[in-house]
This record gives sequence, C-alpha cells and structure tokens, in this order.
Amino acid sequence: MIEVDCLKVVEVKKIVEETYDVKSIFFDRKDLKKPKAGQFFMIWIPDVDEIPMSVSFISENELGITVKKVGDATAALHGLTVGDRIGIRGPLGNGFSLSNGNVLIVGGGIGIAPLYPLIVELSRVSDSITVILAARTSKMLLFVDRISNILNNNRDSLMIVTDDGSAGLKGLASDIAVKLLEERKFDCIYMCGPEVMMRKIFDKAEERGVEVQACLERYMKCGMGLCGSCCIGEYLVCKDGPVFNSEMLRRIRDEFGVFKRSSSGLPINFNI
Ligand SMILES: Cc1cc2nc3c(=O)[nH]c(=O)nc-3n(C[C@H](O)[C@H](O)[C@H](O)COP(=O)(O)OP(=O)(O)OC[C@H]3O[C@@H](n4cnc5c(N)ncnc54)[C@H](O)[C@@H]3O)c2cc1C
Ligand code: FES
Repeated sequence: MIEVDCLKVVEVKKIVEETYDVKSIFFDRKDLKKPKAGQFFMIWIPDVDEIPMSVSFISENELGITVKKVGDATAALHGLTVGDRIGIRGPLGNGFSLSNGNVLIVGGGIGIAPLYPLIVELSRVSDSITVILAARTSKMLLFVDRISNILNNNRDSLMIVTDDGSAGLKGLASDIAVKLLEERKFDCIYMCGPEVMMRKIFDKAEERGVEVQACLERYMKCGMGLCGSCCIGEYLVCKDGPVFNSEMLRRIRDEFGVFKRSSSGLPINFNI
C-alpha cells in the first residue's frame, strides 16, 4: 500500500551559515510527524523544483535541513530568508536503527547531515561512538563543534580527516576507516557520503563481519515509490531506503558504488 503524505507549508524560522556553500534551515515541526534520523523530506520550492533533503536537526518543536548549494533548487533554498515559506512532504523513507554497542560513524562532506541526529540519539544508548568526520579541505568541514559537544570525552572519539591535510589527518575517510576496522572491533558502522567511500568501507566490513547501515542517494521525483526513478537493483531508495543494511547492500553489489542513474534513467558511473 502506498501512503500519500500531504504537502504542508512551513515558515523558515532560522538560517545558519555552516560553510561558504552549506546552510542549515530551521522550521517549526507543527503538525509534521517526528522523523527518525536518516529519514528525509521532499522540499518544494515554489516555481523551482521539489527535491529530497535529509532531516539534520530534530527536536520536539523544530526541524532542520542542511543544504549544499549544487544547482537551481539548492540555490533557491540558499536564497531564503527568515519568514519565507516552503512546502514539505514527509518524513519519508526508513531511517537508521540504533545499535547499543561500539559504533563507528563515517560522514563524508554533506553526508554528515543525516548522521548528526543519529549521533545525538546514539550518544544516549551506545557503549562508545567513534566518528570519522571527513571533507576535502578544512573549509568544508561541517558540524565539528556540534559533534564535539555531544561526544563523551572519556568514551567517544572524533577523528577529523581532510583530503589535503588542512585539518586533522590527511587522507581519505575510507582509508582511515579501513585501517580502524583492521585494528578495532565495532558492532555497527553507520555511514553517509560519497558512494565510492561507502563501498570501500562496506567491503572491509564484510571481511571483518561488521554490520553496516549506509544512507544512499538516487535521483528522486515522487519520493514515495511511484515513479521508479530512484531504483537501485530491486529496491527503491525513497521507499526501501534511504538507509540500507548489510543484507540489502549485498543484493545491490553490482550497483552500489558502481553507478547511479540520471533523471532519464541512464547509468552514470561513479568516478573512482
Ligand atoms: C534521500 C536524499 C537525501 C538528501 N539529503 C541531502 C541533504 O541533507 N543535503 C543536501 O545538500 N543534499 C541532499 N540530497 C541531494 C539533493 O537532493 C540534491 O543535491 C538536489 O536535489 C540538487 O538539486 P539542484 O536543483 O540544486 O541541483 P541540480 O542542478 O538538479 O543537480 C545537481 C546535482 O544533484 C543531483 N540531483 C538533482 N536532483 C536530484 C534529486 N531530485 N534527487 C537526488 N539527486 C538529485 C544531480 O544528479 C546533480 O548531480 C539528498 C538526496 C537524497 C536522494
Ligand atoms: S522517487 Fe519515485 S519511486 Fe522513488
């Protein structure tokens, strides 16, 4: 059965400039269902487009999304000011399941957006949290202070990684995560970011017998399982995902980290 979420109109309450090309936009939760970390909303910008955005802040009264400017719709979201209105449908998709063991979280670039509310929740239930927070350069790092403030210094750790070494460790998040997996035992890995990064970590996790939950992206039109544009193997990312566990990832090995589809369905290889 397909559940149809009605479009609701919300007013922008607060805007936070996170980096030169990323902003967080907050609005009242009002009569929207409380989302789970990993779920997303379809955000309608009048006269522009409707696009998927993960929820990055969740509280009783307020929700937030964190938007990287990449094209027309995200530029329009960046142009909003407090008091402007947008349409919103959701929460959609499945969201992360919480693990109470020792967890590794890997966020690459804007991929930290859906992981942030997860870290907030895991900080209450997990034995220990190790976060690898990665970006191309220091200027692109997101949520460093917010995450540091949540983690418990006696138990958890935050590893900052940049491709160019301008902050933290120099290298790729996938290489650092793979090394960590060789040295330590984790009960679950949560990740979101470039798909090639996630695929490398998944392959090592399989070798080490560690469960994975990966938040994936595909081109979306309807966001509710009708149009098929977000297919990956036998799954629809909007309905069966966007969070995929190890069992699901095994079934989409031929596509995960290999190719995605354009708006017209043509395969586009990921650059390796
Ligand atoms: C479940 C999900 C959650 C997402 N969460 C976030 C988030 O928290 N923050 C964030 O900044 N971005 C997020 N995205 C990506 C975001 O939806 C796209 O960057 C956005 O749709 C681009 O729109 P545009 O008009 O600005 O750019 P365009 O000019 O349309 O495209 C720029 C790039 O974005 C991709 N893209 C365009 N439209 C879509 C679409 N409808 N679905 C998926 N990819 C698209 C294109 O392939 C292209 O590479 C998420 C995507 C998905 C599927
Ligand atoms: S976006 Fe239409 S089926 Fe997923």
